[in-house]
Amino acid sequence: MSKRTKEILANMTLEQKIYHLQQITTATFLTTKESKFEIITGPDSAVKLDKGMVYDVGTSLNLVGAETMIDAESNYLKNSKYKIPLMIMQDVIHGHRTLYPINLAVAGSFDRELAKDLAQMAAKEAALDGMSVTFAPMVDLVRDPRWGRVMESSGEDPYLNGEMAKATVEGYQGDMGKYNIAACVKHFAAYGAAEAGRDYNTVDISERTLREYYLPAYKSAVDAGVKMVMTAFNIVDGVPCVGNKHLVKEILRDEWGFDGIVISDHGAYEEMIVHGACEDKKEAAFLAMDAGCDIEMMSSCYVEHLKELIDEGKVTVEQLDKAVLRILDLKEELGVLDNPYRSVNVEEAKKVQLSPEHRALARRGAAESAVLLKNDGVLPFSKKVDSVAVIGPLGATGAIHGSWHCGGKIEETVSVYDGLKSLLGDKVKYAQGCPIEYDAVDESFFDEACQLAKASECVVLCLGEDQEYSGEGNCRTSIDIPELQYKLLDRILEVNKNVAVALFTGRPLAISRLDKTAPAILNMWMPGTEGGNACASLLFGDAVPSGKITMTFPRALGQCPIYYNHYTTGRPKAQEDDEKFVRFTSCYLDMPNSPLYPFGYGLSYTSFEYSDFKLSSNTMNRGDTLVASVKVKNTGKYKAKEAVQLYIRDVKGSCVRPVKELKGFEKITLDVGEEKTVSFDITEEMLKYWNRDLKFVAEKGEFQVFIGKDSACKPFASFMLI
Ligand code: GLC
Repeated sequence: MSKRTKEILANMTLEQKIYHLQQITTATFLTTKESKFEIITGPDSAVKLDKGMVYDVGTSLNLVGAETMIDAESNYLKNSKYKIPLMIMQDVIHGHRTLYPINLAVAGSFDRELAKDLAQMAAKEAALDGMSVTFAPMVDLVRDPRWGRVMESSGEDPYLNGEMAKATVEGYQGDMGKYNIAACVKHFAAYGAAEAGRDYNTVDISERTLREYYLPAYKSAVDAGVKMVMTAFNIVDGVPCVGNKHLVKEILRDEWGFDGIVISDHGAYEEMIVHGACEDKKEAAFLAMDAGCDIEMMSSCYVEHLKELIDEGKVTVEQLDKAVLRILDLKEELGVLDNPYRSVNVEEAKKVQLSPEHRALARRGAAESAVLLKNDGVLPFSKKVDSVAVIGPLGATGAIHGSWHCGGKIEETVSVYDGLKSLLGDKVKYAQGCPIEYDAVDESFFDEACQLAKASECVVLCLGEDQEYSGEGNCRTSIDIPELQYKLLDRILEVNKNVAVALFTGRPLAISRLDKTAPAILNMWMPGTEGGNACASLLFGDAVPSGKITMTFPRALGQCPIYYNHYTTGRPKAQEDDEKFVRFTSCYLDMPNSPLYPFGYGLSYTSFEYSDFKLSSNTMNRGDTLVASVKVKNTGKYKAKEAVQLYIRDVKGSCVRPVKELKGFEKITLDVGEEKTVSFDITEEMLKYWNRDLKFVAEKGEFQVFIGKDSACKPFASFMLI
């Protein structure tokens, strides 16, 4: 806190302090209805505000456009009694106006710098529209592809999620200058553990699992200096996060030392009543304040009941002051108190947003996040082909930029058809082939598509799921591509074998059938504004795929949840028996345990040889650092990138330990024939975990070391921690 914010606080009335904790949509303050750029991101609960005080709420959310921000902020200040500027927040999740791939894709680039650069770009675009805060990064660890929000996450690994959280926070916040925005890590905590992959559903995990898997990435964001934390909708240990004192006060604030703003998710205070965790809004207000939550988003328990609670001595003015000061301090740090128009700039926004530079970075992000899942040799296509058919429901649409599109527009997004025409000109033709709906049965477009395929030298078949089938609230009980798309593929393959599937999805899909029948599969995820150009460059070899999956692709939904960093169980099925049914082991009658594609998997057009594995010592004394190294050689025909991964297994612990855990990664570029040595430090800190007594320690004993191209790699050495 500063002298200035303390003075402002001292001059605030009790009612004004309470209103400063309220957040409502920015559109409330717009003077003209037609300029509504409001993005609805949740149910509009009844937010009961005193008309005279509406213009003294402290913050607002979700609005796009510099002009609209100026309109809203100036109208707010004109009507505000106390003239403390409004701080505006926005879901800038994977881009503001120039959208880059969904986070599940960007994480797969295994490129910290790229993740940071993309966030920096988004921050500049959002700041120029007058935004001060983004509700990102979302770092919820995910294991169930039925959940629609896996697309926002970095995946199933705590370490990778933490690395991406750090890079993204640093990208958004930078030096907190005029082109930066404050980041808000979410959703605290363990929202991704929703049972059955159904959004907002029950989370019921042990404290150890919470600490071992789900909390590390939030902690990385806090350690990176994130300015805000958003609580999750779900319960943890039976208590809704927003009212969960153990989570917010004891872990986040007391244990981790976070003294920034904690904001609820959309209406979550009042939803505590629906959860059955409190009687009414008054009790909800008490639980939230007692837990240490500051801003109430889109419900009004504080406004309606905090004064009463203070009068009754259940909440103290000191608690209220602390919450208000956190908001004032962030406003001061961002420069909002001096000038709420600190970064908004209509002309500059028009120049910067969707600029060639930003599009180029978004295109790079898409190219480096795409994952080559299969290639029997058809890719890359040659540019010398005389005819290219683009077929499929996702072939000529800009609806490939993901469901958190913020200010991104479909009409500004490059489709695959557009991208291929830019690359190859008129030899590219399009046919829809079939509708996108998962329950569509209309085969009437098949013939036209087959004729085009028959007449073309190669076919790009664009399949997958509609971008609105993932994202918040968009969960599915089937995670394969639709039957109709398989029928289309079969018909196309009857007339042309030179086919590559470009897959568009916001989640891992159980595409065993596609893996069997398609000659090649390039997973573009939801690639963003430049998706079509990135796809074209990858398919025709101007770029070489280097992305990896950061969430396991199951063979079938029946295997879920399935993730690489699992425990071994007392009756593991031997890997060599994977294809067999071995009764009385942990397996299925009808399917191997192994996934379709494992965490960290992704092919290239070239090949890499890993050799000369080394470990500097087979003993680690406390405080030592060991070095694990490997030589990686490009033995193929293309210059390419490779994400080299380090895994470690703690063979025995006072609690059972995962069969392996990602502990390091480095993305390298190798020319044809080039060889590089990649080294990783191994420290005692990396070996720590939450043991039997819930202490975060490294227990003595054997540790195995793995280095490879994905999580299916085998150990090459081990060491004893003394
Ligand atoms: C939504 C989401 C959250 C988002 C918030 C504001 O319900 O859960 O991620 O930041 O509301 O739009």
